[in-house]
Amino acid sequence: MDKWNIDQVPSQSGRVAIVTGANGGLGYETALQLAKKDVRVILACRNVPKAEKAKARIVSQYPEAQVRSMPLDVSSLREVREFAAQFGRQYDRLDLLINNAGIMMSPYQVTEDGFENQLATNYIGHFALTGLLLPSLARTPGSRVVTLSSLSYKWARIQFEDLHARQGYSRRKAYGQSKRACLMFAYELHRRLSAAGYGTLSVAAHPGLAKTNLDQYFPALIRPLGSLFLQPARKGALPVLYAALAQDVKGGEFIGPDGFGEMRGDPARVDSDEYSKDANVARQLWQASEAMTGVYYPDGKG
Ligand SMILES: NC(=O)c1ccc[n+]([C@@H]2O[C@H](COP(=O)([O-])OP(=O)(O)OC[C@H]3O[C@@H](n4cnc5c(N)ncnc54)[C@H](OP(=O)(O)O)[C@@H]3O)[C@@H](O)[C@H]2O)c1
Repeated sequence: MDKWNIDQVPSQSGRVAIVTGANGGLGYETALQLAKKDVRVILACRNVPKAEKAKARIVSQYPEAQVRSMPLDVSSLREVREFAAQFGRQYDRLDLLINNAGIMMSPYQVTEDGFENQLATNYIGHFALTGLLLPSLARTPGSRVVTLSSLSYKWARIQFEDLHARQGYSRRKAYGQSKRACLMFAYELHRRLSAAGYGTLSVAAHPGLAKTNLDQYFPALIRPLGSLFLQPARKGALPVLYAALAQDVKGGEFIGPDGFGEMRGDPARVDSDEYSKDANVARQLWQASEAMTGVYYPDGKG
C-alpha cells in the first residue's frame, strides 16, 4: 500500500458522518478531518459542553465546517435508542458511522443496564447503535461502519461464562475483552452485511499508541513515561480515516499503523490472531449481544 495522505481525498460534500466520543482524542481528530473534507459531522458525545467546545474548535479552524453535537452516552441503551431515533427523524442518509468512544482500564463499575462499564461503553453500546442505524446506512450508497479496536485485543478472549466480570474484575482483561469484541463485531458485521446483500462496508481500525486522554485511569507517575512511546492523536486517527475514506478499502479489513509492532506509522492493512477470526465465537458473541441489547439485526435487505 502506498503511503496514504488525507490531502489526496477529494471533497466529500453531501455526506453525513457520526463520530462517537468526538470531543477529544482520536474522535476529535477524526471529526476535524472529516469536516475539512466537507462531510456533515455529528459529534455524538456524552458531555454536551465539551462537545460544543470541540465544535467551536473545529469551526475556528475551518469556518465552512458543517458540524453539530448530539448528546449520546453510549454506555446507556436508553440513550443509544434516543439518539438513533432522533437521528432517524432528522437525517435521510448516513455515510459514515465511526464507533470511536471508549474508556480504558477504568475501575469496576456497572451501568444502568447492568453491564460492566468498559464492555458497555466500548462494545455493547456500539453494537446497539450500529444495529439501530442500519436502515440509514443501508439506504446510503457507499456507506461504511468503522469500529475502533486496539492492539490490546490480545489481552483477553471473550469470557462467555462471565462477560461482565461479576466473578472477578481485571481492568486490563476487561479492556482487552471489550476491544476484542469490537474487532470480532467488525468482522462479523462484514460477513453478515455481505451475505445479506448490503453495500455497507464494516471495517476495523486501530491507532497504534496515540497520545490522548485514554490513559486517565493510569497511575499519575506512569502517564508521562507512557507518553514517550505515543504518536500524536492526529496521526493515530489516520487508520480510522483511511478505513472510512480510502477507495481501496474492502469490508472485513483491519487497518492500523505500518510501523514496528503496529505502534506508530502510516495506515496499512494489518492482521489479527486466529481466535478473532473464529466465526463460531463471533456468532456466539453476536447472539449474546442481541439478547443483551434487544437490538436484532435484520437478516437481509427486505
Ligand atoms: N489512544 C490510543 O493509543 C488508543 C489505542 C487503541 C485504541 N484506542 C481506541 O480509540 C478510541 C478513542 O480513544 P482515545 O484514545 O481518543 O481516548 P480519549 O481521548 O479518552 O477519548 C475517548 C472519547 O470517548 C468518549 N467517551 C467515553 N465514554 C463515553 C460514553 N459512555 N459515551 C460517549 N462518549 C464516551 C470520551 O468522552 P469524555 O470526554 O466525556 O470522557 C472521549 O470523547 C477508543 O475506542 C480507544 O479504545 C485508542
